[in-house]
Amino acid sequence: MTTKQTVLQELPADLDRDRLPKHVAVIMDGNGRWAKRQGLPRILGHRRGVDALKELLRCCRDWGIKALTAYAFSTENWGRPLEEVDFLMTLFERVLRQELDEMIRENVRIKFVGNLLALPSSLQAEISRAVEATRNNPGIQFTVATNYGGRQEILQACRAIAFQVQQGLIQPEEIDEALFESHLYTAGISDPDLLIRTSGEMRISNFLLWQVAYSELYITDILWPDFDREAFHLALRAYQQRDRRFGKIAKG
Ligand code: FPP
Repeated sequence: MTTKQTVLQELPADLDRDRLPKHVAVIMDGNGRWAKRQGLPRILGHRRGVDALKELLRCCRDWGIKALTAYAFSTENWGRPLEEVDFLMTLFERVLRQELDEMIRENVRIKFVGNLLALPSSLQAEISRAVEATRNNPGIQFTVATNYGGRQEILQACRAIAFQVQQGLIQPEEIDEALFESHLYTAGISDPDLLIRTSGEMRISNFLLWQVAYSELYITDILWPDFDREAFHLALRAYQQRDRRFGKIAKG
C-alpha cells in the first residue's frame, strides 16, 4: 500500500466529520475508455472497476459514511455486445462469491436493486445468498443497482399502488411521497446526499430518478478505474462546500 493510501485511511483533516454525506451514490463510468487508453480489452476495464469499487466501499467504511449505492448495470446495458454482457454477469457472480466472507467479516449489508428476475439464474442465486447472509449486518449499507432503470422502478411502483387502489385497499388521496417511496426498490434507504459520476459525462442516465431529487451532483473527468481515495476526498471536499437549501433560501 502506498503512503498516500495509508495516510487516507483516516478521515482527511480538511473534512468535517459531522457534515459527511450519509449516503453516496456512484455512476461508475469510463471502464471501457480506461482500458482503451491502456491498449487493453474493455473487459479488463470492468475488472479494474471492481477494484475501484471495493476500495471506495472500504473508504466509506473507514470514514464513517453509512451507505453506498453503485450503478453496476442499467436496463439499457443489455444492448452492449453479447460477450461484454456475459463477461459482466460472470464478473458480478464471481465477485459476489469471492467477496462474501469479507463482507460478512466487515459487517457490510448488501442489497441489489433492479429487475433481478431477468438476470442469469446462477447470478440470482449468488445474490440471494449474499443478501441473506448479510441481512442483519450493522455496518455500511451497500446497494448494487443491477438491471436497474429509474423509469422502470417508478413504473413498477405505480403498478403496485394502482393495484392496491383497484383492490380497494387504499384511496387515491392516500398516495403521498412516503407511500410511493415504500414501493421503490430502495424502500428504507435514505436518498443519496451526493451523486458522483466519473468520466465527465453530464447525465443521470436513468439512475435513481426519484431518489436524487435533492442530491448534490459531482462530476469528475477521472475514469472509474482511477477513482481512488484521493479522488473521493476531493468529491467530499466539494460536497462540504455546497450550500444545501432543498429549495429554501440561504440562512442568515
Ligand atoms: C461503465 O463503464 C461501467 C459498467 C457498465 C460496469 C460497471 C461494473 C463494475 C465496475 C463491476 C461492479 C461489480 C459488482 C459485483 C458490483 P463503460 O463500460 O460504460 O465505460 P465507457 O463509457 O468508457 O465505455
